[in-house]
Amino acid sequence: MTAPAPDLLDTMPPPPQRSFASDNAAGAHPAVMDAVVAANDGHALAYGSDAATARCEELFRELFDADVTIRLAFNGTGANIVALATMMASRPGPHQAVICSEWAHINVDETGAPERILATKLIDLPSADAKLSPEQIREQAHVQGVVHHAQPGIVSITQPTELGTLYSVKEIRAVCDTAHDMGLLVHVDGARIANATAALGGTREALRAMTIEAGVDAISFGGTKIGALGAEAVVFLNPTAATGSEFIRKQVTQLASKMRYLAAQFNALLADDLWLQLGVQANGLARTLHAQVAGLPGVDAGPTPAVNSIFPCLAPELIKPLQQWSFFWDWDPSINQVRWMTGWDTTPDDVAAFAAGVRHLTG
Ligand SMILES: Cc1ncc(COP(=O)(O)O)c(C=O)c1O
Repeated sequence: MTAPAPDLLDTMPPPPQRSFASDNAAGAHPAVMDAVVAANDGHALAYGSDAATARCEELFRELFDADVTIRLAFNGTGANIVALATMMASRPGPHQAVICSEWAHINVDETGAPERILATKLIDLPSADAKLSPEQIREQAHVQGVVHHAQPGIVSITQPTELGTLYSVKEIRAVCDTAHDMGLLVHVDGARIANATAALGGTREALRAMTIEAGVDAISFGGTKIGALGAEAVVFLNPTAATGSEFIRKQVTQLASKMRYLAAQFNALLADDLWLQLGVQANGLARTLHAQVAGLPGVDAGPTPAVNSIFPCLAPELIKPLQQWSFFWDWDPSINQVRWMTGWDTTPDDVAAFAAGVRHLTG
């Protein structure tokens, strides 16, 4: 494959209106913006003592069909900290560790926040697909009761994972069974739980099956990536694991005084299962993009995406011109791997335009 001529960019078709850089690059859904504006009406009591927050709690209880405890947070890192700090406080001792995969956002993308704020050790286990197996968790039993080792307290998995892979319901249940058998609690980082739910059936039942019914104790339920302006929810499915969560959220600086605005965002996303519709749409368009570029010369599109991200390996000379035309992130430069991600607002036209650009460059 020859290097593109310097003026090749001038001949490119128009880039997509929305890039494939990240679902975080998307704006907020109009329904979310409308809800925030509607919430901006007069005074409401602060710190969650308002009607929008009460409604939000009700909507989450309906969603999980259970008396779950909700703690809204500003961002995903904060939600993970609220969840993990509370779960750790529900277990004995400050000498606990969190078992996670080497790819876990809490391990590689939170600037050491769990270590600093929770003063905990992360036991990051190797994983080619970013998933943890029950066997790997079980192997950690050898440190239990050994005075020289931080004591595993929590298993944290990400669904879908940072590599776009997905645990099946059966796999999550097996993780939970093993963890519980060892006396550990299970946290799910669900920053993209909408995409995971969409992939596993696209229904509320699918969400319940992989979380509350599988035995998950708490989940960081993402809002921001699926159309919120900036809102995440920690949902404690196990009431014991939620003890003290209202105090701990404040201690770790995630208690919003004007909570109504966080709640309003989720109220818009949860109404009529908008969050799920958007997840289904984003996943579907990732599959369409994959189908449109798979087989092009210089493009190893990888497996059909399970959720809303594709990790293709490209002929090296394609990467820079494509990025200059419509930006996306490198993933693993050692194998010329990049990441393309759809968002809640990606359209079929964006996919067609992006694929046309890839086709144009691959000749
Ligand atoms: C798996 C996962 N967890 C959590 C987050 C939330 O991070 P932030 O603190 O940037 O909202 C992200 C965002 O990229 C993520 O991908």
